[in-house]
Amino acid sequence: MSLILRPLKESDETSFFEGMKLWPEDDLSWYTFAWKPGMPYSTMMAILDKEMKGIDLAPGRVPHSMLYGFVDGKIIGRVSVRHSLNEMLRKRGGNIGYAVAEPYRRSGYATEMVRQSLQYCRDLGLDKIMITCSDNNIPSWKIIEKFHGELQDKVWDEEDNEMIRRYWIPLTK
Ligand SMILES: CC(C)(COP(=O)(O)OP(=O)(O)OC[C@H]1O[C@@H](n2cnc3c(N)ncnc32)[C@H](O)[C@@H]1OP(=O)(O)O)[C@@H](O)C(=O)NCCC(=O)NCCS
Repeated sequence: MSLILRPLKESDETSFFEGMKLWPEDDLSWYTFAWKPGMPYSTMMAILDKEMKGIDLAPGRVPHSMLYGFVDGKIIGRVSVRHSLNEMLRKRGGNIGYAVAEPYRRSGYATEMVRQSLQYCRDLGLDKIMITCSDNNIPSWKIIEKFHGELQDKVWDEEDNEMIRRYWIPLTK
């Protein structure tokens, strides 16, 4: 599969804004956390760069890489990689979170993005990662289990009022 998962470059501005059109305006967090309406691309890039390097992090934030999945030059989804865990992420969020735009779902893209993000995590020096997902998000936990995710537990999430699963994926070298 010819999917490339990588951080955005300066030259990806057109692809970034094209990719955004595939997401509902009222929930862009599946596509981007950093960009806000009206923000120039260069400003967002500066934010992403600092987050990746762990510079000037807001309280409670850990270093973070936003990786985008490119297929034929188009952005079809993204993986958010948290380089370490804190109390909040251990409860919900874990090390990685992923999303694929509706028109591109059920084609194995999320599976491939997760495969590549596991290598990214290995390169960060992590030996295991936590992933959490809603108990009824079948595609998400199918992906996690495909990569030998070990279920730690199921816990009730007070904020979203739902049962979530917390998994660990061991990262063998
Ligand atoms: C979850 C999500 C990333 C899956 O993306 P995707 O590209 O469709 O996933 P894949 O094509 O790699 O499919 C993964 C597995 O789930 C299965 N699957 C996909 N959609 C499914 C659905 N609606 N119902 C049941 N199984 C489904 C696939 O068949 C595949 O299993 P298989 O290999 O055994 O056949 C996508 O639905 C999404 O972005 N959802 C919204 C965001 C989200 O929930 N992210 C996860 C947060 S933890």
